[in-house]
Amino acid sequence: MNIEIIHTPNPDARISVYDSGLGGLSILRELEQELPGERLYYFADNAHLPYGPRPLDEVRRFAIAIADQLLRLPSKAVVVACNTASAAALKPLRQTFPDIPFIGMEPAVKPAARDSRSGKVGVLATQATFQGELFESVMERFAHDVEVVRMPCPGLAEFIEMHPPDHPAMEPMVAKYVTPLVERGVDTLVLACTHYPLIKDVIAQVAGDGVAIVDPSPAIARRTRQVLEEGGLLASGGAGETTINVSGEAERFSRSASVHLGREVRAVSAPFLWVPVDGPAL
Ligand code: DGL
Repeated sequence: MNIEIIHTPNPDARISVYDSGLGGLSILRELEQELPGERLYYFADNAHLPYGPRPLDEVRRFAIAIADQLLRLPSKAVVVACNTASAAALKPLRQTFPDIPFIGMEPAVKPAARDSRSGKVGVLATQATFQGELFESVMERFAHDVEVVRMPCPGLAEFIEMHPPDHPAMEPMVAKYVTPLVERGVDTLVLACTHYPLIKDVIAQVAGDGVAIVDPSPAIARRTRQVLEEGGLLASGGAGETTINVSGEAERFSRSASVHLGREVRAVSAPFLWVPVDGPAL
């Protein structure tokens, strides 16, 4: 059977937000603050977490398939609350679904370069985020007058996914990536993976007082409001609501999400019906 999908944004539709796991909650909680009257739908593709070590074209296939599923229920905008998926797929997503606004993550080198006094900026991200055009384009546009030190952080997003911020091994793991940057004279650290703001306090403590942390999450929420305003798509009133689905395990996800959102969260497992090209059926 062929299902015809009509992508028409309207103000009553939901805002869909997605990430590989918990990370996008750093964006979701800002969206809840900025847009309290909106219906938010969060999808965590935790069956495929981590995205960071995967080839970009695999993450791109996931992204297109997820957007296709998300848009089967009316969505007026999609927030790609994942730097890795944005690096892999933002352009193709916009080409594939031209009628829907996509808000994506771009490493916040611009404000970091503007505010750094030492002229040395560190960027923390997954391995995949540093590959591909998006990061290169950010460098070309914003990194003229500063030295940008790239620090891929293999394993950090998974560790944040599996453990609470106060886990005894969290600080040593963060130090492995942050301390070499501080030793190189970096005075500004860009959090370019949405998982990292969930442990911002640990990162700030390891980095020390002289280092500013750039967390783009509030700016993404403001950008989302702006996009909706420009499209005449803001909800007209009433109470907002948030629904959370995951493609994999839901119980531990719900417990961790409750910690990060500061309220009781119940995520429901909603495996997609699509079969990833390189993986088993979900
Ligand atoms: N939260 C994701 C990001 O912003 C990726 C984490 C992962 O799955 O590797 O890059």
